[in-house]
Amino acid sequence: MSRAIGDRRVARLRADAHRVLAGNWREGHLADGTPYGFTCPAPPRYRHQWYWDSCFHAIVWRHFEPARAREELRTLVRGGRLDGFIPHTIFWHDAAGWRRAPFYATHSLRGDRATAHIQTPVLALAWEAVAAASPDEPEFGTEALDALRLHYDWLDRHRDPDRDGLISIIHPDESGLDDSPKYDSVFGWMSHYRPGYFWLVERSRRLRYDSRAIIARYDEHVEDVLVNVFYALALRALARLSGERVYDERAQHTAQALVTRCWDEERGLFWDLAGRDHTPLRVSTWSSLAPLALPSLPKPIAQRLIEEHLLDPRRYRSPFGIPSVSMEEPSFRAGWHLFRCWRGPSWMNTAWLLVPALRRHGFQAEANRIVASCLTLVERHGFREYYNPLNGEGLAARRFGWSTLLVDLLPPVTERQPQLPRTPFHGSAREELLSMGAEAAAETSRLIGAAARKRLWSSRNGGASGESD
Ligand code: GLC
Repeated sequence: MSRAIGDRRVARLRADAHRVLAGNWREGHLADGTPYGFTCPAPPRYRHQWYWDSCFHAIVWRHFEPARAREELRTLVRGGRLDGFIPHTIFWHDAAGWRRAPFYATHSLRGDRATAHIQTPVLALAWEAVAAASPDEPEFGTEALDALRLHYDWLDRHRDPDRDGLISIIHPDESGLDDSPKYDSVFGWMSHYRPGYFWLVERSRRLRYDSRAIIARYDEHVEDVLVNVFYALALRALARLSGERVYDERAQHTAQALVTRCWDEERGLFWDLAGRDHTPLRVSTWSSLAPLALPSLPKPIAQRLIEEHLLDPRRYRSPFGIPSVSMEEPSFRAGWHLFRCWRGPSWMNTAWLLVPALRRHGFQAEANRIVASCLTLVERHGFREYYNPLNGEGLAARRFGWSTLLVDLLPPVTERQPQLPRTPFHGSAREELLSMGAEAAAETSRLIGAAARKRLWSSRNGGASGESD
């Protein structure tokens, strides 16, 4: 692949990725002296530490400066509680303020240092990858074993009350796939992009985010396939890091449960299970394909996921990247919408999860095609938050951290690593809101322009034209 894409392009992409991560890096100390160092997803829009973003950032940092990869993961663990809970978002750099409470799932209405909900638990997987890139600190692999055990044991105890091996999420954004259409029928008016989301947060707050109580009392919770794929991969990584078989057995239990409970033989897809009755959520999203990343997945299932879905041009084989929702779904939207981002656009972490699986199953040419299309996206539009899978347009936040995961899919090249600056904190809630306003204004004027061009085109041609979104 290196020949096909060319070393110079790869080297340029790597240098740009390194610059983005370094520009988003924030470090400092809390008033009590606690140090932190992590990469904001995209300041000023996303200026805190997000759990799975940090794991993805560390996976890329390890190619450039493993010391920062280690610092990022250590900071994430430091943001956790002694009982093993690690938050979805941590607000390191300033005192907790009331303004966060309506937008973030915090314990107190006046806000806290961190949220009280989780995010897809990628940590042990990232830890193992960073440890493998840390010959200069060989003890890194084992230094946090107690914290990692506590974390995965917390998830097991609090999020799998029915003991079927599948952990549950209690808010849609806990998966990281906030507004995915697969959650519409479960959360309804409380969906992430609807005003009722504030009520969902308030309801959890009143039960002190006690997930066992929430799961027992309400039906709005999901055994999410993507979350459980990462959970199983992370448990396996923890087994390798610790040498303890019990984590391997738990990983197998989860992987097995995905096949026996979530696989739909007729449709050839995996479905999330919702509520106390385990109702399958039959909307085809990239989550339905995610078990491809499990090495233990039976070959015939993998074959069907790839041939009937991932490589079907009516479903997931789009010109750019891999869409987050099947193009065949009525809810599929390729472009930008305020507060809605997981209803169709291509994200880089999707390709990062699925491309290695394609390669493992012998689909080299298709894997190369997807990677080449992602490279084109970044060369044309930079590291954007996500992209239109039909026309390749770069969308939403700029200099978005985890889009640099593309580096992990490209062959390594040897280049001199420049020492890039370490940045102190800047950015305020005001800037965050202004940046969202600017993004909305830019996208809206682009959409209006596109609609005007379309009208002009069709009046000149005396007919309608097809539009992607
Ligand atoms: C958006 C994404 C979520 C991510 C966060 C920070 O909310 O949906 O997955 O963690 O932004 O980048």
